[in-house]
This record gives sequence, C-alpha cells and structure tokens, in this order.
Amino acid sequence: MAADKTILKALAGETQPTPPIWMMRQAGRYLPEYRATRAQAGDFLSLCYNSDLATEVTLQPIRRYGFDAAILFADILLLPQALGADLWFVTGEGPRLSTITDQGGLDALKPVADIHETLNPIYQTIRNLTTALPRETTLIGFAGAPWTVATYMIAGRGTPDQGPAHALKAENKAVFEGLLDRITEGTIEYLSAQIEAGAEVVKLFDSWAGSLKGADFDKYATAPAKRIISELKARHPGIPVIAFPREAGDKYIGFHAKTGADCVAIDDSVTAEWAAEHVQKDGCVQGNLASSHMVTGGDALVRETKRIVKAYGNGPHIFNLGHGITPDADPDNVQRMIDAVRGA
Ligand code: CP3
Repeated sequence: MAADKTILKALAGETQPTPPIWMMRQAGRYLPEYRATRAQAGDFLSLCYNSDLATEVTLQPIRRYGFDAAILFADILLLPQALGADLWFVTGEGPRLSTITDQGGLDALKPVADIHETLNPIYQTIRNLTTALPRETTLIGFAGAPWTVATYMIAGRGTPDQGPAHALKAENKAVFEGLLDRITEGTIEYLSAQIEAGAEVVKLFDSWAGSLKGADFDKYATAPAKRIISELKARHPGIPVIAFPREAGDKYIGFHAKTGADCVAIDDSVTAEWAAEHVQKDGCVQGNLASSHMVTGGDALVRETKRIVKAYGNGPHIFNLGHGITPDADPDNVQRMIDAVRGA
C-alpha cells in the first residue's frame, strides 16, 4: 500500500491543499464506454459477476478522469442474493427481490458462511484491480448497511418511504431484528473477504438511513455500523472505513465517534458549511456536491464546487457528490468539476 495515496492521507486525518476526489456511481450509464461493456455482458448482474468486465468498467472512469479512488464495480444487493434471495433488475425500473416478511422467510436464508460461493467473482474483480490500477489510485470496496439492505429484502424493491420495512419493524420486531442481524453478520464476512482480496478502504452505504428517526436511527443505523466497523478493525487493524448514513441530518453529528468510522460521507441535503462546523471537527468528511450539477453544468457547477472545497478546507476532506451521478449527466461536467477541485 503506497503511504502517499491522497485518499488514505485524508482518511488518516490529514488536511491537504487539494482534496482527493472520486465520485459515487463513477462507473455508470452516463459513460458511453460503460454502456458498451454492459451491452457486451448482456445485463447488469452478468456484468457484476463477470470479473474481467467488472474490472474493465471499474477502470473506465480512472482512465478517463484520473480519479484518486476506484470503487469496486458490484452492487449492494449481491449480498441478499448470496444469502439466497432471488434478485433481478427490471430495465428502466430497478431491482426486484423475493420478499422476507416472516420467520419462515428468515429461516430459509442460507448460512452466512455460504455467501462466498456466490461472491467469489467479486473478490476476483478486486484481485484483478490490485494489479491493474495506477499505483496512486486507492481501491474502495463496499457493502450496503443492514437497514438499507433490509428495506429491499422486505419490500422486494426500492420504495420511496421504506414503508414495508417500517411496518415489519412495528409488527414483527423479532423477524425484523433477526434479518438485520443476519445482514450484519453477512456484511462483516463480505467486507472482510473484500479486504483480504485487496480493498484498501471499505464504504458502508446506508442510503435510506434518513427514514430512521430518533431511537430507531441509533438502534438500526448507528449500532449495526458500529458492530461492523469494530469487527472489521479487529480482524484487519488499520483498515479505514467510510460510513454514509444518507440524509441523517442532525444525526450526522457524532457519527464518527459513535461508530468508529474514519470518514463520514455527507449528502447534499445539508450545506458544506454546516457539515464542516458540526461533523468535520470529528474527522474526515466526504462530499457533497449535488449530483444535479453533473446534468446542468455551467457557472453554478464551478461556483458550488469551489464553495464546497473552501468550506472543508481546514480539515480532512474527500471531494465527492452528495449521491450517485445519474444516467442523464454530461461526462464533460465531470471534468469541469475535477478541474474546479484541482484548480486547473
Ligand atoms: O460506481 C460505483 O459507485 C460502484 C458500483 C455501485 C453500483 N451500485 C452499481 C450500479 C455501487 C457502490 C452501488 C450501490 C448501491 N446499489 C446502492 C447504494 C448507493 C445509492 O445509490 O444509494 C443502492 C441503493 C443500490 C441498489 C441499486 N442498484 C438500485 C436501486 C439500482 C437501480 C437504480 C439505478 O440507478 O438504475 C441499482 C442498479 C445499479 N447499480 C446500476 C449501477 C451502475 C445501474 C445498472 C445498469 O447498468 O442498468
């Protein structure tokens, strides 16, 4: 591991004159080269499980833009699939899964020790990347946080308000908590195997953390993150972890200390100035340009990018969007953002 990698320096708490930069969903449909490789693979899941093609799409945004980090090309829903859920993607709509709503559904899941049978190609992608990436580029592995993964496993699809998961939590807490535990244990094994294969950092995506309020947030977002992070750090001393409790609002405050995360990723529903004052004082932050700027571009993109760099300028910061780049984004706007960050 090169000690001079800018992402690792930020994660170690170093303030740098220019923040390192990568982008959520940087390998994705806004890039023509991604669409071509995806067509070659046939469909999204075949692309995830084809180590050679998944390596190729992970490298595409590194070649085009020279980002400071590459994120493994995979999906948070591969873990449910490895645990025995049926998973498929409906073009233009999103993921579909078999649902878990009772004890029988929970009991039918595979043991956590069996996930690697399904996930081995993902570890192979990571091994490929450890030799294929430029030496200055940091390789990030990832998984979904238990609550976010559970919302998909319970509803069988993405939901605007995570209603079915909230309903199961209210109506059958034992099954709900049993499912969260199973996902938590699976996530520890999955991320641990990613680290063994060569991931230098791991990120936990809690995309729907914002719908957990009050004590539920502490119990189902903070506590599982803490358990996963402490177990990973016990097994792999020094492994840096980025946590992304999206739309956590005030609950971003103290999230580093409560979970042991080295970096907290911030979405764009809060300002960089607010997060610099209340969250960055505890450690590295990542974020948080609104991804809509990748569609609209112009002066506003450059102005906002510079404002965010300045707001976080007195502490450790990794520049990123507040959420994933969307398929309608203009690849030229990504270059404009990078130039604005690097002062070109
Ligand atoms: O470049 C990267 O960021 C790495 C790869 C990555 C993907 N998904 C690839 C992907 C990562 C880190 C994810 C995380 C993920 N997946 C999350 C958490 C982050 C977030 O966006 O909130 C979630 C909730 C998922 C589940 C998921 N995967 C959904 C809801 C969808 C459909 C919506 C959509 O954008 O199409 C996916 C599909 C998906 N995952 C695509 C990609 C590139 C698009 C698939 C395609 O090529 O058709």
